[in-house]
Amino acid sequence: MNAVILGASGLVGGNCLSFFKKMGWNCLGTHFSFETSETQYYNTLDISDDRNIDLAEFNPDVIVHCGALTWVDYCEEHEEESRTKTVESTVNAITLAKKFGAKLVYLSTDYVFDGKKGFYTESDSVNPLGVYARHKLEAEQEIEKANIEHLICRITNVYGDEIRGKNFIARLSENMQKGEAMELNLPADQYATPVNARDVARAIYELVSNEKSGLYHFASTDYLNRVQLAERVQSYFGHEQVLIKSVTTEQLNQLAERPLIGGMSAVKFNAEFPDFRWTNVDDYLTDLKNRTH
Ligand SMILES: NC(=O)c1ccc[n+]([C@@H]2O[C@H](COP(=O)([O-])OP(=O)(O)OC[C@H]3O[C@@H](n4cnc5c(N)ncnc54)[C@H](OP(=O)(O)O)[C@@H]3O)[C@@H](O)[C@H]2O)c1
Repeated sequence: MNAVILGASGLVGGNCLSFFKKMGWNCLGTHFSFETSETQYYNTLDISDDRNIDLAEFNPDVIVHCGALTWVDYCEEHEEESRTKTVESTVNAITLAKKFGAKLVYLSTDYVFDGKKGFYTESDSVNPLGVYARHKLEAEQEIEKANIEHLICRITNVYGDEIRGKNFIARLSENMQKGEAMELNLPADQYATPVNARDVARAIYELVSNEKSGLYHFASTDYLNRVQLAERVQSYFGHEQVLIKSVTTEQLNQLAERPLIGGMSAVKFNAEFPDFRWTNVDDYLTDLKNRTH
């Protein structure tokens, strides 16, 4: 399998690159602004950029598109930039998938829902609340109407190993390990289903290998709000100078409205892959602790 991972310098893409390689796929991972030793430059905003690595030579069977503007509050005030980086980049990825006859894999989010229900399944009605959410949904719809082989995988609260260690759990555990005093104000009313990026890569691998297509929700067994998630990290790496304060989303006054009761149900995926085991936050923190101590 020849797999191009657009955005392999990031959390999900980096895990896809390393896992697919481990499984024997021939992979080409790309970066945009953050060069790594494993990636080549590719700008999904301009597929005629002459600095782009030549994908034709690689002839991909599958393209995993990970690029988006994911800073949800920033998106509220920068709608055009959000559209370009999330929707237009996806339209360009569709063009590439058509050109090479490749399957397109797109990573989407539980933010396409309004957060009134939680444990969302693929058949639940969407109702995005903010600019980022609307653009992620628009990108999904571009793919669905493009008449190409595709997978849309909705995920939320992704954590795991990544070069820049910028995800919530990685950042928090690293800061706690430094032993510095910290006070965190976190919303106790924002619930989601955290998922390890490694499992996202494993699930995509299964779907592609088994020639599946369409919409899939990914989730493990955890259903946690932000305070609970931070407390979980604290139980492994915390010290007495870490103060976690529980606040409401209303108190935080974030620019973008959040789907409060979010999170996915992976019941469809689990039924099709009964032997697949999702790891959970405790598995990751245990492993991280073993590696760092
Ligand atoms: N993380 C989550 O909790 C979460 C939740 C739901 C959905 N998702 C979705 O999952 C996808 C991946 O998220 P992530 O957390 O892995 O994001 P990430 O760590 O920020 O990675 C994004 C990747 O996209 C690349 N990229 C950005 N702009 C690009 C451009 N113009 N051309 C080419 N590549 C570009 C980045 O490259 P450089 O860094 O080199 O610029 C980076 O490798 C996104 O679509 C996001 O919406 C993530």
